[in-house]
Amino acid sequence: MAFLFNSDAERAKIFAAEFARELPSLPFVADAGSVDPAAVRYLLTWTAPPDLERYVNLEVLFSIGAGVDQFAIDRLPKNVKLVRMIEDGITRMMQEYVTLAVLALHRDLPGYLDQQSAREWRMRPVRQASERRVGVLGLGNLGQAVLDRLSPFGFPLSGWSRSPREIPGVACHHGEAALTDFLATQDILICLLPLTVETRGILNASLLSKLPRGAGLVHVGRGPQLDTDALVAALDNGQLAGAVLDVTDPEPLPADHPLWRHPKAIITPHIASVTQPETAARTVIANIRRHEAGLDLIGLVDSDRGY
Ligand code: NDP
Ligand code: OXD
Repeated sequence: MAFLFNSDAERAKIFAAEFARELPSLPFVADAGSVDPAAVRYLLTWTAPPDLERYVNLEVLFSIGAGVDQFAIDRLPKNVKLVRMIEDGITRMMQEYVTLAVLALHRDLPGYLDQQSAREWRMRPVRQASERRVGVLGLGNLGQAVLDRLSPFGFPLSGWSRSPREIPGVACHHGEAALTDFLATQDILICLLPLTVETRGILNASLLSKLPRGAGLVHVGRGPQLDTDALVAALDNGQLAGAVLDVTDPEPLPADHPLWRHPKAIITPHIASVTQPETAARTVIANIRRHEAGLDLIGLVDSDRGY
């Protein structure tokens, strides 16, 4: 029974070396064409292969990313465990990106970039970090990690999740009923929610209108969570002062989309965080060991919740 790795050749080399060292008894295959699907027990991939039904002995499907919305979860065989990626590389990169984005909005970087393009030397109003409230939609692995990294700056921190959470130094809110009050107190809102039926379109005109006037948005979840027309309107009418977007719908963002040239928007091409093969290989190997020992898998997806 084999482990099939379905990603780029560069990462395959690093995974193969780690598997050879740590799990030499498990055949590691990086070319789907060279293995009988019935011999695959573990598959690591970004999306499910079109002939998934031929993988009759598949036990664990590892997502190469932290998100699993690309997998049409309700159509996966019920006996196959789906596991999202939780690994130090993704976590560290997301901490860096969100810190960069929050500081950019806090220090009004979009405004200064706009002034620079007009060669305008002018100081803009300043606020102390202690006066800038920062909140995260999604208090999972990444939401909590970015709050931890933001903590030394002195921003008042809060977060929102589905179920109750307790995080030292963070005002935690949960559930639909608490969302409006949570939004009313966020000067910078970060979206780190998984894409599910419930979160699709959540960043819409109604949600944006509930933020304090002049708030900022950092969107690093998934593109279809955001109504980009509503965002452009909120930036234009001053409801939002700025936005940093790493994800859009569609991706790539079409060349003629107004957000590309919007002076209050900063856009990056879905690079906030990228799975790092060295650390990812270690967590996948640890999970295989857990699976073989009959233990719960780290990052196991609950197919009813969709994340
Ligand atoms: P987790 O599964 O660890 O956390 C998800 C969080 O979202 C949980 O706190 C969960 O609540 C909350 N949540 C889910 N649904 C709802 C809802 N309906 N209402 C309120 N809260 C909800 O995910 P990660 O932190 O690992 O990753 C989050 C997402 O970040 C990924 O799914 C992916 O889409 C995105 N991502 C983006 C990257 C990029 O480069 N732009 C890179 C990596 C990830 P509860 O705690 O109650 O379960
Ligand atoms: C992920 C991503 O989900 O890169 O890991 O978006």
